[in-house]
Amino acid sequence: MPVIVHLSDIHFGAHRAELAESLLADIASTSPDLIVISGDLTQRARRRQFEQARAFIDRMAAPVLTVVGNHDLPLINLPRRFLSETRRYQRHITQDLDPVIALPGLVAVGLDTMPSWRWKAGHVSPRQVSIVQNAFRGAPLEAWRLLVTHHPVLPAHLAGLVGRDQLVSACAEAGVAVLLSGHTHTPSAGVVDLHAPGVHRRALALVTGTAISTRTRGAANAYEVIQMEGSMSEGGRITVEIREPTSTGWSERRKSHFRYTSSGVMAEPEPG
Ligand SMILES: [Fe+2]
Repeated sequence: MPVIVHLSDIHFGAHRAELAESLLADIASTSPDLIVISGDLTQRARRRQFEQARAFIDRMAAPVLTVVGNHDLPLINLPRRFLSETRRYQRHITQDLDPVIALPGLVAVGLDTMPSWRWKAGHVSPRQVSIVQNAFRGAPLEAWRLLVTHHPVLPAHLAGLVGRDQLVSACAEAGVAVLLSGHTHTPSAGVVDLHAPGVHRRALALVTGTAISTRTRGAANAYEVIQMEGSMSEGGRITVEIREPTSTGWSERRKSHFRYTSSGVMAEPEPG
């Protein structure tokens, strides 16, 4: 029963420092098997901000999968942005820009959707589509398949993403069950259609809010706890809990339930 914590858009440098400690404690209380951070670890890609992000990650007692967000590339220093745009991210966070993590019962692939020549919209290359295909091709048949990107892959209206159709097609063929993203700072959880020639599957698209930044855009700070029950086969279940800060810590704001079927992920009807 893998438990996955999903954070995004932490924006160190524009963060609520008082929430960082309580968030770490709340994450620890969920005993996660994997922690996903779907980009924008920093506000302006400054060295101090990456040091804060590194220290934050070092206090997590589970494997951490991160991807680059648009704020993790230098915005103002143009020579740095174009010559070594991910240098600081790679020095402080991880060398691997398109990480693959395999754990018992799940395989997660992260993609860097933030090339230096784009300011805000995302991009996925044919090489990265191959990474997705290869990672899931070799995975056990009933392992949960997760894809992590900063820019939401679907629903398409949430973010520009060049190469989206090829990526969606690869996800359909690979049977990806969950898409995890950030970028919008507004949490959402819903079933989306994945199409490839001769293939139609459904996946759960999760966008999580901004964990502790001041850039809440009208929504509360939030993160997600995703619990998988059973394997990625008929009868498998996914519960998504959105947690928000309160005056004394963090608590459940909303919970939604999904089940796995032969055509992919379906929403469970609300109880009552
Ligand atoms: Fe962000």
